[in-house]
Amino acid sequence: MTTHLMGNYGPKPRTFVRGEGSILFDTEGRSYVDFLCGIAVTSLGHANPVVTEAIATQAATLSHVSNLFGNTLAEEVAVSIDRLISLPGEPLNGQVFFANSGTEANEAAFKLARKFHGGERPKVVSTWNSFHGRTMASLAATGQPAKHVGFAPLPAGFSHVAFGELSEMEAALSDREVGAVLVEPIQGEGGVIVPSSDYLSGLRALCDETGTLLICDEVQTGFGRSGKWFASSGAHVLADIVTMAKSLGNGMPIGACWAKSEVAAAFLPGDHGSTFGGQPLALAAARATIAELERIDAPAAALRAEAIITEKLSHGVPGIVALRGSGLLLGAQLSVPAGDVVTAALERGLILNAVRPDTIRIAPPLNITDHDLYLGLDRLSEALTAVVGATK
Ligand SMILES: Cc1ncc(COP(=O)(O)O)c(C=O)c1O
Repeated sequence: MTTHLMGNYGPKPRTFVRGEGSILFDTEGRSYVDFLCGIAVTSLGHANPVVTEAIATQAATLSHVSNLFGNTLAEEVAVSIDRLISLPGEPLNGQVFFANSGTEANEAAFKLARKFHGGERPKVVSTWNSFHGRTMASLAATGQPAKHVGFAPLPAGFSHVAFGELSEMEAALSDREVGAVLVEPIQGEGGVIVPSSDYLSGLRALCDETGTLLICDEVQTGFGRSGKWFASSGAHVLADIVTMAKSLGNGMPIGACWAKSEVAAAFLPGDHGSTFGGQPLALAAARATIAELERIDAPAAALRAEAIITEKLSHGVPGIVALRGSGLLLGAQLSVPAGDVVTAALERGLILNAVRPDTIRIAPPLNITDHDLYLGLDRLSEALTAVVGATK
């Protein structure tokens, strides 16, 4: 045994000890441009001064009291989330449950949906190729059978249809036991797959016709990353439940499940809970993160950087077959193995990951400077040139 850590994660190619904005430093003192940002988490960059100050101040004031007592931050953060999700010009009408991660936010959504239907319609339909988390019900909802292997029996009541195919969803909703549809507005882990522009509104219509709850998993897309505050309401679709996590705390663990108040009303005292969920330290980070994301106009920043990336990668950079995604959640489909490019990029001081054997994900901080963005793109271009050259 060479480590006391379990083997569920693969080998680690580097160990980082410090971060500053879009730059990470490893144990050898080498620097890297971070185009992954903790997998779409540190949207305001590493050691962001505003968030760091908020965490430090809160840690020195009050970190934790349990949900048996009130805290002054929860309501404030919930109102901000409600405001960012709501459709322009429409009243705020949602309520929030705070969790610690994306998968827990989804677990809360499943329980809420079941409670809302009074136990009559317990089934959830999600999509193939989706990713919703690693806890048992979120794993059952995840449409990647390879991730299920070895973990049977998973909770019952979860089934899948093709992403982007409204006719398949319509057929699935003929089962009156289906009470909820769960979908990522853009599939992130599945390869950065963007559905057609009428897909979400089509799902909304199908759910309305059948009295089914629409749950949008915005764990990866939320808080400006897609170029909208939320990809669903940005597409003028108000889901019944929206789950989020990742960038909400800029690295402090926090997730949330938002629901329309008539749906949220199904949760009564004692129905759900979490020791750490919504504790002051995480909420202080979330409050500062949201305020800073609003100050920089995060969706606009994402779209501006997306335009720079698109322009740069469509001119003379070898190995790129197609660029997918929205805002700063981009997938570059390659003519060479994505894993080789990730390794070559790391050697040149750029962090990326492979979401498919032929696709790398590009998800830098939303406030990345032009200098760091161009530096990262130059390194990506060098990495691609090297891998394309080696595979000829
Ligand atoms: C869309 C989506 N949902 C849920 C999750 C799970 O989030 P967590 O790892 O915080 O449990 C992820 C994580 O990548 C995700 O991308």
